[in-house]
Amino acid sequence: MPVFTNEETKLFHLQTKNTSYIFQIIANGAAGQVYYGAKVPVKPSYSNLMTMEEHDCTNTLSEENTSFQLELIKQEYATQGKGDFREAAYVIQYPDGSRTSEFEYQGYQVEKGKKRLPGLPSSFDDEGTDATSLTVTFKDRLYDLTMNLHYTVFNDDDVIVRSTSFENKGDTVMIDRALSAQLDLPDDNYDLLQFSGTWARERHLYRNHLRPGTQSVASRRINSSHHENPAIILARPNTDNNQGEAFGFNLVYSGSFLDTVEVDQFNTTRVVTGIHPDDFSWQLEAGQSFQTPEAILSYTNAGMNALSQQMGHFYRDHLINPHFAKEDRPILINNWEATFMDFTEEKLMKIVTKAKETGIEMFVLDDGWFGHRDNDLTSLGDWFVDQKKFLNGVGGFASRVHKLGMKFGLWFEPEMISIDSKLYEDHPDWMIQTKGRLATPARHQFVLDMARQEVVDDIFNKMSAVIKDTKLDYIKWDMNRTITEAFTATLPANRQQEFAHRYILGVYQLYERLTQAFPSVLFESCASGGGRFDLGMMYYAPQAWCSDDTDAVERIYIQDGTSYGYIPSMWGAHVSAVPNDQVGRVTSLDTRAKVAYFGAFGYELDLNELSEEEQETVKEQVAFYKQQRHLFQHGTFYRIDSPDTATDNVYGWQVVNDDQSEAIAVRFQILNEPNPGYIRFYFTGLDPEKTYQVNDDEETYSGAELMNAGYFVARIMPRSASPKPLADFNATMFVVKAVD
Ligand code: DGJ
Repeated sequence: MPVFTNEETKLFHLQTKNTSYIFQIIANGAAGQVYYGAKVPVKPSYSNLMTMEEHDCTNTLSEENTSFQLELIKQEYATQGKGDFREAAYVIQYPDGSRTSEFEYQGYQVEKGKKRLPGLPSSFDDEGTDATSLTVTFKDRLYDLTMNLHYTVFNDDDVIVRSTSFENKGDTVMIDRALSAQLDLPDDNYDLLQFSGTWARERHLYRNHLRPGTQSVASRRINSSHHENPAIILARPNTDNNQGEAFGFNLVYSGSFLDTVEVDQFNTTRVVTGIHPDDFSWQLEAGQSFQTPEAILSYTNAGMNALSQQMGHFYRDHLINPHFAKEDRPILINNWEATFMDFTEEKLMKIVTKAKETGIEMFVLDDGWFGHRDNDLTSLGDWFVDQKKFLNGVGGFASRVHKLGMKFGLWFEPEMISIDSKLYEDHPDWMIQTKGRLATPARHQFVLDMARQEVVDDIFNKMSAVIKDTKLDYIKWDMNRTITEAFTATLPANRQQEFAHRYILGVYQLYERLTQAFPSVLFESCASGGGRFDLGMMYYAPQAWCSDDTDAVERIYIQDGTSYGYIPSMWGAHVSAVPNDQVGRVTSLDTRAKVAYFGAFGYELDLNELSEEEQETVKEQVAFYKQQRHLFQHGTFYRIDSPDTATDNVYGWQVVNDDQSEAIAVRFQILNEPNPGYIRFYFTGLDPEKTYQVNDDEETYSGAELMNAGYFVARIMPRSASPKPLADFNATMFVVKAVD
């Protein structure tokens, strides 16, 4: 039983394979955080960890209980107004306008399994065999309002899933803040790892030591954003990929979010994560309840590879659509960077035919197939075919692709509307706008009010018709702008702050209905590249377009950062043409493929424009990827730490299969160096006892040797080389196989 409860001491001990998460009801009736970290034995109480000492100049619980001082107490889910001035996890506004809450412990319930959250993406245990869920209930001392703290642990995963719900049976209240989880840690000796950037430069790793005060990672854009990602890590300063303590946090949510880490006056650390409170408040009437999104917490003392792996393992088993989670994803070719919107059916058929010859399995028709969309000024919302481009409709084109034995995918941007569209002509009021204010355009387009049921219904019907007509295999669901002039006609003036969350709930509803109605359609989410790369999306769309930046070097940074919080099957990675569309850089076809292999692999160029030799290379790449696809997409992923990866010039990645009999590693070197010393590459994740062959070496090596002593790597280019190869942006690959 991974959830241990003690009725007498009101103590709750959640155990995963290697971790313990302990909390206890404290004197004010709330829950105090006792411990989260490496597994410790179950005891009735940990009174020594809960010892309190009275401090001067600090509020106390009562005249009698003066050593209970909230400012010094680690809590599970804190509010404001009672002497804890750190970041609050929740704030309720009562009918008299007051915002001080006192919730008292009522009881708890333990259940087998983990139910999905209605209307929200969430973790699950559909068979009810892997998970144990605990709900601890608290009641407001003055109002008929209940707060439930929800926890789930899973048999095979070092992960705790948390969320909170409120149920109201009394007077109407406003929830001004309802984050998903809080974790109070007893010291502040941590680095914060965040994954930040902008469009075309998403999820670069930043690592900084904590300092007093609050440091936040957030989005107020009503999408999780290119700029910050909900995934964060707290790691001890000496933690690296292979060893050391680290806590991982991620949020199953796609809208505005807040991750705050606060170091307080006593050098303790509070982490809170959830819906961004700036964009949020929620009116809760009698009979209504509110459920927060889920937060994922994970701890390890075995380094950041272990942390990423244990979170990834959990996503695969309990978060991603099981229909696709462990399935191999098709190798696709997407026409976006090949043609943009300038195409005819015949031009596309040439790409499709060539793709088929190379062994590519799916053609994805990107933006520009509908309405009269020859540029980005027009037609969003008109999800019917452009007859000029496709004489027999998109269904006719799809059947030509299918007849060649290839799958067919299509691009949609379901949440958007162009002013120049039939949709706008019919329903100008469906566009998000604030009456009397100028509407702010972005890419000449506007956003539909997904909080309106009729909007969701209409888009569902239009998309369904196309999916049926084309017998669609895949949808790329794009979202190319953020929301401005946020307002919905569906809510009265005093409830407009519900809009941001209601918008996302509308998006989730559309995803839910489409994935239910068309279970075999694979979804890839996208938001101008990686602007909505989050677990909320991953619940419906098992993969996401990582970035509009397809340059191999930029992709090393992006995919490396992404790998801390996500797994390779989740990130779409394509080989595109050079000079690269975003940065003008020329990298070899070989390097471009070796970067893109680590992910849901594809191409995004016109194969007809490659030389015959390059086309042959593409064939070989496709054949190689097919052989190794399962390993690349679903193997255990490692970032390699070795002496040379300590510089920003060298990166190493490796995937290993479950029984450690096969692995593939790549050493990326961004710039070549003159007259380098001998290079050694240190493998990881192999079985030290097994004997391996590397590429076609005659010599064999023990796993221990490859991991500890390393492997000699020839320099990229001897000075005598002629002709001179493209020596910068090098990728050296090692295919490793056990031979005994
Ligand atoms: C942004 C996406 O990230 C691109 O891949 C492409 O689909 C364009 N939108 C199309 O408008």
